[in-house]
Amino acid sequence: MKEKQEEFIKMVKAKIDGRNLQYYILTMGCQLNENDSEKISGMLTEMGYTETQKFEDADIVIFNTCCVRENAEERLFGKIGEIKKIKEHKDLIVAIGGCMMQEKNMVSKIRKSYPFVDVIFGTHTMQNLPEDIYKALIEHEKVKDVIDVDGEIHEDIPIRRNDKFRASVTIMYGCNNFCTYCIVPYVRGRERSRNPQNILKEVQDLANDGYKEITLLGQNVNSYMAHQGADLESAGEINSFAKLLDAVCKIDGIERVRFISPHPKNFTDDVIESIAKNDKIAKIIHLPLQSGNSKVLKEMNRVYNKEQYLELVRKMKDKIPNIVFSTDIIVGFPGETDEEFEDTLDVVRKVNFEQIFMFIYSPREGTPAAKLEQIPEEIKHKRFDKLKELYESKVDENNDKYLHTQQKILIEGLSKNNDKMLTGRTDTNKVVIFEPETNEKIGDMVTVEIIEAHKWYLKGKIIH
Ligand code: SAH
Ligand code: SF4
Ligand code: F3S
Repeated sequence: MKEKQEEFIKMVKAKIDGRNLQYYILTMGCQLNENDSEKISGMLTEMGYTETQKFEDADIVIFNTCCVRENAEERLFGKIGEIKKIKEHKDLIVAIGGCMMQEKNMVSKIRKSYPFVDVIFGTHTMQNLPEDIYKALIEHEKVKDVIDVDGEIHEDIPIRRNDKFRASVTIMYGCNNFCTYCIVPYVRGRERSRNPQNILKEVQDLANDGYKEITLLGQNVNSYMAHQGADLESAGEINSFAKLLDAVCKIDGIERVRFISPHPKNFTDDVIESIAKNDKIAKIIHLPLQSGNSKVLKEMNRVYNKEQYLELVRKMKDKIPNIVFSTDIIVGFPGETDEEFEDTLDVVRKVNFEQIFMFIYSPREGTPAAKLEQIPEEIKHKRFDKLKELYESKVDENNDKYLHTQQKILIEGLSKNNDKMLTGRTDTNKVVIFEPETNEKIGDMVTVEIIEAHKWYLKGKIIH
């Protein structure tokens, strides 16, 4: 972390020392935002704030925003409205950051409609938060700290993690793909990959601290080091995503490795080999489909067609025993016909996804698809329901295949509905509940045999 920010941390700390001030963070959006919030949390902790889960109790409220779909805006404005009431009778700093603040006109909209907001910061300037808070808190300034230039990579930002056994590690920032519906490349900038040595050090430190499961994060995670401008020279040997996966798996103590989100077009054979040979890599792969129709995929600028997607799945099923898939699907992209949507259902039947994240297309200002002729809301909703129905009709069948198999489970805690039972997940993300045998603890990896399959969970018995 830059010395300048460390100075601001010290100055804020000196100012608020002994006052027991609290912070509240509301995180919207994806795991990248979650990971950013852990860093925001880390900086605030260093400044001397402690966390509260109730925003009425907070002295500083941070909104870390998402703008990938329209409903995020409604949610944020609702929350800012609630904060306004509290701020009327309490000395409170309100800071809004994240992807939405990088959207054109958003900063001026907030300034105009919500003049009481103290700090606005963007995705490329998050690391300056200590300075921004200092200015708001001590100099009573209204701060706007948003730039439209890709940020550098900032190592060593303090971090306060949400979990003790599972951790996310961002390995690359930004996206170069410009899918025509998506706003992410505009708000997160171009692809930048972290130096592999810094990533491995972070994972090693996590292993030393007792972490068992690592999720490598990036908007386009498998194009790690594959984009223009990647600093291959300083990367040395570990100059591809496959090699990074191999290196992370070699770290003792880490027992499970996941990654999101890969893009089908970057799923090279070396990555498939790495998944096949490393037992630690979870055998569920998130492979965003978006649409099963080749014409729609072309209009989305996804760079693969229906056949290529199915071929990739077939190849992975051939090479990796027991592999399963999860996916993202958008229904109601502009111009999508009923017939074209049938292709999406066809791919869903063929791949038999373990998990589907379904989205109704939401036009995003500034993206090419927003300018196309839109299809009526009720058609979008009908298609969404049809997809959901198909997916749910497969859940039982999918769960039954786990019966009598042995699964490795990372124990996450006591079951919510029955505190005599433990709960955890298989590497394919299925929730399993089971009785403790000896003195198993949260964070232990155990092997269980699955004895019952229910719709939303499996029941197991510890073997060892
Ligand atoms: N980089 C990742 C995730 C991007 S955002 C990837 O490519 O998979 C997560 C998901 O939100 C996307 O996969 C997509 O399914 C969905 N999404 C993105 N833009 C959208 C929009 N305008 N309307 C509806 N869903 C959208
Ligand atoms: Fe958006 Fe496409 Fe990039 Fe994913 S790959 S973040 S969907 S532009
Ligand atoms: Fe949303 Fe930003 Fe993630 S727009 S999905 S929080 S990268």
